[in-house]
Amino acid sequence: MAVPVVVDADYLKEIDKARRELRALIATKNCAPIMLRISWHDAGTYDAESKTGGPNGSIRNEQEYSHGANSGLKIALDLCEDVKTKHPKISYADLYQLAGVVAVEVTGGPDISFVPGRIDSNACTDEGRLPDAHQGFKHLKDVFYRMGLSDKDIVALSGAHTLGRAHPERSGFDGPWTQDPLKFDNSYFVELLKEEESEGLLKLSTDKTLLEVPEFRHYVELYAKDEDAFFRDYAESHKKLSELGFTPTSSVTKVITDNSVVLAQSAVGVAVAAAVVAFGYFYEIRKRMK
Ligand code: HEM
Repeated sequence: MAVPVVVDADYLKEIDKARRELRALIATKNCAPIMLRISWHDAGTYDAESKTGGPNGSIRNEQEYSHGANSGLKIALDLCEDVKTKHPKISYADLYQLAGVVAVEVTGGPDISFVPGRIDSNACTDEGRLPDAHQGFKHLKDVFYRMGLSDKDIVALSGAHTLGRAHPERSGFDGPWTQDPLKFDNSYFVELLKEEESEGLLKLSTDKTLLEVPEFRHYVELYAKDEDAFFRDYAESHKKLSELGFTPTSSVTKVITDNSVVLAQSAVGVAVAAAVVAFGYFYEIRKRMK
């Protein structure tokens, strides 16, 4: 049975600690790409019609991580398990999505707003919901529209291949997409538009097809020349992907709001205390001068 997640102040504190833990882990192990990929592969199974799959932690089950598309991702699951052991309260579903958000952030990408409260599920979807790299634009549309995502989301999210590389023993493909696969920037789009392929860099059929139809190509051209536009759209699309089938309860939003109120109140408290001290100091000096 699914265990409900109570997002109270304690849970938020654990999320904050796990976030710091993930930053350190990613920095020491240089594992941002595979952490981003685990978050995508947990979320990308979503089917908007049947409301199955999605960012629910089900990828932690052997039945799902042994799917061909998830080859190699056990490494990321084990890395996340170290964080889970220290913060058992956090759901796997939240942890994997937090890992993706942190991976983008620490490699120089945009900040992505993260709302916790995802519930873990053991309901693994059948193999075949994630995209097949050998195919073209129609397949991409089929897969991403099934999730409820748009053409813009497809192109922006494909820009995640700015990070990492393909490993022959995992996917059969080889090499990175960009010159600096540990830096999140818009170079994936810059490389994609180059007429002459850069030596050693990879382009999958699903990457190349982004140039084939105007509704995709438009965004490739935009993101290649305007990194701010890419970062803005990427952050929006990544948040959508990380929240497929997940509606944060109003109490989550309330706890977060309450926390900011507490912070705001303490800021006012500090300011008032400082003013009182300053006033007392000047009062004392004036008294002495009389
Ligand atoms: C558009 C359809 C997509 C296809 C067909 C696809 C396919 C692939 C393939 C074949 C690999 C190589 C895996 C390996 O050999 O280790 C890969 C790696 C990767 N993918 Fe995608 N992908 C897609 C979309 C995405 C999206 C939406 C994201 C994230 C939002 C993403 C993030 C990554 C990352 C970060 C890596 C590098 C992993 C590493 O270095 O270990 N991909 N992808």
